[in-house]
Amino acid sequence: MTDPKSKNITFHGAEISAQQREDLLGQRGCVLWFTGLSGSGKSTVARRLEQKLISRHVYTYALDGDNVRMGLNKDLGFSPQDRHENIRRIGCVCQLFAESTCITTASFVSPYRASRDSVRALVGDNFIEVHVATSLEVCEARDPKGLYAKARAGLIPDFTGISAPY
Ligand code: ADX
Repeated sequence: MTDPKSKNITFHGAEISAQQREDLLGQRGCVLWFTGLSGSGKSTVARRLEQKLISRHVYTYALDGDNVRMGLNKDLGFSPQDRHENIRRIGCVCQLFAESTCITTASFVSPYRASRDSVRALVGDNFIEVHVATSLEVCEARDPKGLYAKARAGLIPDFTGISAPY
């Protein structure tokens, strides 16, 4: 991790234990991390799961790429450094959601194993990684946002699967 800019800060431990929260809400938080190419179906699967869980009265929340990049991470692009920072911040958010007992789904391309492993290290045992391993051919044929066509035409640099690695 980079050297923090804020130095004179003190961590306040929780006065309510994880167990107390779990007892109150009757569930234990976790992070279901969906990774895969754009158009692989990560968000679709996560949203479907969210509906099923809500119908069973399970407290859940879905975080995904385009939405988080419109707010919290709107200062970040798609260079390797920015993608690492994107996933680092999202990992911190996911950890807080999971601590609050939320069944948290995260759907991000997250192409770098090292970034995903950092989130796993932060969240601990309650981190479950799901690789939505739809092939590039299928994702490109679907092209739901027209981004593969643009990337092939050279209009989007660093596009995962075309000009950037997964
Ligand atoms: S990540 O690589 O940093 O994890 P993230 O999941 O937040 O990516 O955002 C990916 C989404 O941004 C894609 O689903 C797509 O809609 C859009 N996008 C725009 N430019 C790119 C790009 N260069 N590479 C991949 N996805 C892109």
